[in-house]
Amino acid sequence: MTDWDASRYHRVSEPQFDWGQRVIARLKPVAGERILDLGCGTARLTQEIQRASAGGAVAVVGLDRSGSMLAVARASIPHAETAAPVLLVHADGAALPFRSAFDAVFSAATLHWIPDHQAVFASVAVALDAGGRFVAQCGGRGNLQRMLEHTSQLQASAIYREYFHDWRDPWNFAGAEETAAPGAASFDCLLQPNEKRAKPNSVVKVCKTDRRYIE
Ligand SMILES: C[S@@+](CC[C@H](N)C(=O)[O-])C[C@H]1O[C@@H](n2cnc3c(N)ncnc32)[C@H](O)[C@@H]1O
Repeated sequence: MTDWDASRYHRVSEPQFDWGQRVIARLKPVAGERILDLGCGTARLTQEIQRASAGGAVAVVGLDRSGSMLAVARASIPHAETAAPVLLVHADGAALPFRSAFDAVFSAATLHWIPDHQAVFASVAVALDAGGRFVAQCGGRGNLQRMLEHTSQLQASAIYREYFHDWRDPWNFAGAEETAAPGAASFDCLLQPNEKRAKPNSVVKVCKTDRRYIE
């Protein structure tokens, strides 16, 4: 498996940072909470979660499967002693090494990179404490659709066919009906059909009790 160019991602991830801050606003971290950032990347948002907590510190853990992302994250987190330092964990979000350890799981721009969403949801359910919430954002069905149509035509063409016979796209852009996290007391996931053009109200919101398009 190839790894990310994490230094470059850190420099160019302004769009993801903006989307993620809107997800932090939905998360509303509260002092004393234990929060997991699933797919933390270079931990820009992980550190924002700590800054955004109302009334005091939260204990934030950033988890990612990419060693290069975590190396850049480690270098970007200030070394100063704080009441609740950000901890980083190298692990798979579909097989979390935690049990009843968090009040909330946050995830931004990551779930569509993980093929088995049911494994993620089951793992998040085990990692959350009773009453815990799961607040996420990711690409949803329709994302990159035009580009994917063009690339699949090219891949099937006589010139390129031989190079792509066992190619699998790495993304899982799921729809609302297959996105549910039954183990979380509340689940709020923004599925963005088209990240580039998404307006705040062109997302699908999925909750345990509420599954609808916001228009
Ligand atoms: C587009 S980046 C988003 C990073 C960060 N959340 C942000 O918004 O800047 C997607 C991240 O998901 C991570 N990722 C992909 N599959 C993963 C998995 N199975 N478990 C944990 N992290 C994963 C990647 O390594 C990458 O850091």
